[in-house]
Amino acid sequence: MADAISIGIAGATGYAGQELIRLAARHPAVRLTMAMASGTADSVRTLPSLTRVWDGEVTPLSVDRLAAETDAVFMTLPDPVAAEVGPALVARGVRVFDLSGTFRLRDPALRRRWYPATPALAEPAVYGLTEHYRAALPDARLVACPGCYPTAAVLALRPLIDAGLLEGDIVIDAKSGISGAGKTPSERTHFSECYGSVAAYGLFEHRHGAEIEQELERTVTFTPHLVPLDRGILETIYVRVRQAVSETMVATALEQAYADAPFVRLRGEALPEIKHVTYTNFCDIGWQLHAPSGRLVLVVCLDNLVKGAAGQALQNLNVAFGLDETTGLS
Ligand SMILES: NC(=O)c1ccc[n+]([C@@H]2O[C@H](COP(=O)([O-])OP(=O)(O)OC[C@H]3O[C@@H](n4cnc5c(N)ncnc54)[C@H](OP(=O)(O)O)[C@@H]3O)[C@@H](O)[C@H]2O)c1
Repeated sequence: MADAISIGIAGATGYAGQELIRLAARHPAVRLTMAMASGTADSVRTLPSLTRVWDGEVTPLSVDRLAAETDAVFMTLPDPVAAEVGPALVARGVRVFDLSGTFRLRDPALRRRWYPATPALAEPAVYGLTEHYRAALPDARLVACPGCYPTAAVLALRPLIDAGLLEGDIVIDAKSGISGAGKTPSERTHFSECYGSVAAYGLFEHRHGAEIEQELERTVTFTPHLVPLDRGILETIYVRVRQAVSETMVATALEQAYADAPFVRLRGEALPEIKHVTYTNFCDIGWQLHAPSGRLVLVVCLDNLVKGAAGQALQNLNVAFGLDETTGLS
């Protein structure tokens, strides 16, 4: 692979990092040069679940080594660590695809509230929702890949808002598998707490709500739930259409927006399910309009670790480096 893009993964032992390794290992145009996580100078780890997929070693995080040996780095790190490492890599000429929330919010006050460690940047990050920011990716030095919940909500709603079809409140009822919270269990995400239960959390107080509102330029009521699945997100979205908006107008707005989007599958009344999308980079969108009352319900599904994280980050790298968007992902 003489001309392969040399990539590094910072946060390689986490859920998103391991998913990236799985995808990068079979990507024909990238070479995974370094995988890093925390640890002391002499600690080296292997990843048993990826044996024979990728047999490299995970070494302690080093900005110097990443800068010297990679063209691009995926950061699958906690927010405060990404806040420090991202700008340091960009300053050294490395292209950075950040999966944390650190650089997603453009409003400084909101950034201070939700991501207090984020430094001011000379050049803002490009928001990496590939389908809506494709044109900005080739010149981007720092790509802030979207959150898993916002990816689903914004893909479904943005075209309908752009087409002027909606009015009134937007309610997003979201369910996520537990891997969305990362590999370290907490009281909320511990197996014995989650198994056999479904719980709402973060009402009016979730940073992904702020991100969704930024991208929709609308206030939303966003209620996430944890469901006892290992992976996957399903969002049921309740909106109202303007008078005289028909089923055809809804379908046309979505079809036009995603005519050239290989990873958005429009399902119409064949409502999507989490099992249809796990281990894929697809986002499936279904909907039904109750025409007499103008109530529109959308159902959106994706895999939080693929289209909601590693897959979308790789999709962004493909576009940023001029490759076919589906390379290594189809
Ligand atoms: N999970 C999802 O569905 C999802 C979706 C979209 C975005 N994200 C975002 O992506 C990022 C990673 O998520 P995740 O779920 O993969 O988290 P995770 O499972 O907790 O993994 C975190 C990774 O960061 C490493 N790390 C932690 N502190 C470090 C430090 N000081 N120096 C170097 N490495 C350090 C960990 O290494 P050790 O093994 O050494 O601790 C691990 O590899 C987060 O910012 C998250 O918000 C996650």
